[in-house]
Amino acid sequence: MNYLEEQIISIGKIRIKNHLADIGIETVRAEIIKGLKAPKKYISSKFFYDEKGSQLFEEITQLAEYYPTRTEKKILSSFVKNSSIDFTDLSIIELGSGDSSKIKLLLKQISQNSLSSIRYFPVDISASAILKSSEELMQEFELKSITGIVADFVHQLNVLPKAGRRLFCFFGSTIGNFRKAEQKKFITELGNEMQAGDALLLGMDMVKDISVLEKAYNDEKGVTAAFNKNILNVINALCNANFDIDDFEHIAFYNQAENRIEMHLKALKEMDVSLNSGFNIIHLRKGEKIHTENSHKFTDKDIKSIEKWGNLKIKNIFTDENRWFKLIYFVKSR
Ligand SMILES: C[S@@+](CC[C@H](N)C(=O)[O-])C[C@H]1O[C@@H](n2cnc3c(N)ncnc32)[C@H](O)[C@@H]1O
Repeated sequence: MNYLEEQIISIGKIRIKNHLADIGIETVRAEIIKGLKAPKKYISSKFFYDEKGSQLFEEITQLAEYYPTRTEKKILSSFVKNSSIDFTDLSIIELGSGDSSKIKLLLKQISQNSLSSIRYFPVDISASAILKSSEELMQEFELKSITGIVADFVHQLNVLPKAGRRLFCFFGSTIGNFRKAEQKKFITELGNEMQAGDALLLGMDMVKDISVLEKAYNDEKGVTAAFNKNILNVINALCNANFDIDDFEHIAFYNQAENRIEMHLKALKEMDVSLNSGFNIIHLRKGEKIHTENSHKFTDKDIKSIEKWGNLKIKNIFTDENRWFKLIYFVKSR
């Protein structure tokens, strides 16, 4: 996560631009310190994704317990023939693209004629994820172009390309990482950004049996625990801090009142942590938790709310045999 310098990388038909420098390191440090000084400490889940965090997330998606990726990919693998989307001359903008493995599944189902007219725009906070996935994609598919956008999609929707007919993809139920009020704000802003003819393909993880949910975030190999703790390494790098990840325990549970999995890091001892090379000190009591992620689970009522907030129209809903995950195709008509 490079908040320091604007950077442009060009490799053949791939171009990647870092917009995080427009936010700036001081703003990010202030945001992190605000969360760590709050009565209930928190760190935004966007800080999971440095190079190691992105790799660990890829590992999570392959775990037996982690059903969301497997289920959404199964829905996507037969998506194109069941949808009425015209992919010719389309600009595909994928928010939180990660390893781009889901877009690959989609592209595999499209004819070469259409592929060579498609512009793909992966948008992610993780520059390493965009670079690696763009190179892989260019080797596998003859697309018109790939333009990677390293940006924070919460604050920087304004940097997205405006031209052409656009399909916004937001997979992985990443929308569930936002609190309810943030979901409403984000979808309203995205809806305002969309023009008539644009569309949104949104992946949403549905409410289900608690034991299935809790297992998915407490895997036996401890990969989710390593992913959760790595956020402290990212904070160390961004804020010149001295968190020791071994002083924390990974906690994940389902909060039924809020329909969400919560991940926390629990302090195993009382400690003072230094940030900004000692300029800020954060005190933690033994047992005190830092809230690192929410992963909201959705109902059909929530899908209707998204339609309303974004001023969108639901065209199709695709799901699996258990109805565990839904992929909703929304269109913007005016
Ligand atoms: C839950 S992962 C999903 C990855 C992939 N779309 C999938 O479905 O497997 C969330 C992705 O969004 C990115 N991300 C999280 N918060 C972000 C933000 N505020 N701005 C841009 N990217 C963000 C992360 O780097 C990560 O690649």
